[in-house]
Amino acid sequence: MGRFGINLMTYNAIAAKDSFSSNDYYKECILLVDDYVDHLELMTVILEQEGYRVVSSSEPKGVAGRIEEWAPDIAILDVMMPGMSGYELCRILKEGCKNKTKFFPVILVTGLAQSEDRITGIEAGADDFFSKPFNPKEIIVKIKSLLRLKRLQDELESTEDVIFTLATALEAKDLYTKGHSERVSAISVHVAAGLGFSEKEVIGIKKAGILHDIGKIGVHENILHKSGGLSDEERGIIRKHPVTGAEICKPLYSIRHILPAIRHHHERWDGGGFPDGLAGYGIPLLGRVISIADTFDAMVSVRPYRAGFPIDRALGIIKNEMNAGQWDPAMASEFIKMAGCNPDFIKGLYSDKT
Ligand SMILES: [Fe+2]
Repeated sequence: MGRFGINLMTYNAIAAKDSFSSNDYYKECILLVDDYVDHLELMTVILEQEGYRVVSSSEPKGVAGRIEEWAPDIAILDVMMPGMSGYELCRILKEGCKNKTKFFPVILVTGLAQSEDRITGIEAGADDFFSKPFNPKEIIVKIKSLLRLKRLQDELESTEDVIFTLATALEAKDLYTKGHSERVSAISVHVAAGLGFSEKEVIGIKKAGILHDIGKIGVHENILHKSGGLSDEERGIIRKHPVTGAEICKPLYSIRHILPAIRHHHERWDGGGFPDGLAGYGIPLLGRVISIADTFDAMVSVRPYRAGFPIDRALGIIKNEMNAGQWDPAMASEFIKMAGCNPDFIKGLYSDKT
């Protein structure tokens, strides 16, 4: 019996490998890291028999550098390895995929059942544990469960990607609005961070900034790009875009928190905005930030009928409007302060527009 509690002779152990045929690309991929080669071989056989593609390494230090090439869907890491522990490798892998947003499950294999070891594993970002010796059926059940979760997460992110791409594509058609949502998003993130918003709120405002005008997809281009004055009817149509935008994003459960920011990004602190005429603290927090960044960007951006305002002039107007009661004073003050402290950041946003 090996350390896993499985008789090695039960399986036709083959050498662990990371080369695979083109058909294997369609299989879900499991990364195994264990300094004990016999275990790699055994686990490879078990998992390949279940229809998975397996990549493996007995050298934990070389794993991070090959992750993109291997593109695993899940990792199973032994904890006790010379040179680098499974905890350390888990932390590195989780950190590495943080910016790519994809959920990447990691299972730690440990012979130690103490709760402190599990706590260390959880702190390193592990999603589940196997204690040795273990039953192969138990391994398969856990892997299937985590992969199911990953598939759902990936589908969700794909749907999100479509909406974000749509929002960017919508304004990319027009030279004058190109990049507007990304700038509003970047400015809002700076203001939110300066105000001490939670990480979740900052991530929310980043998304809300990108999506805030997606409702304009329902407005005809002739109205959207009209250079002269708008009729009352046309103004009414444009004013529907926050509600339309929130409706478009509503089916997406993962961005439900930012729907109020989309719906209320044209409200005013004094109650003079739309669509609901909310006032003061009745306006959702994220909407109060987006509205300032949105107005500032609209002023500085070039329009078919006018040049963009100089940054200082636009900041002066925001300040006057704050004093007149149009903006949440805390938000507007933070925005003006942030712009003053980060002139290069603000100028950089408009470097191709001047
Ligand atoms: Fe808008």
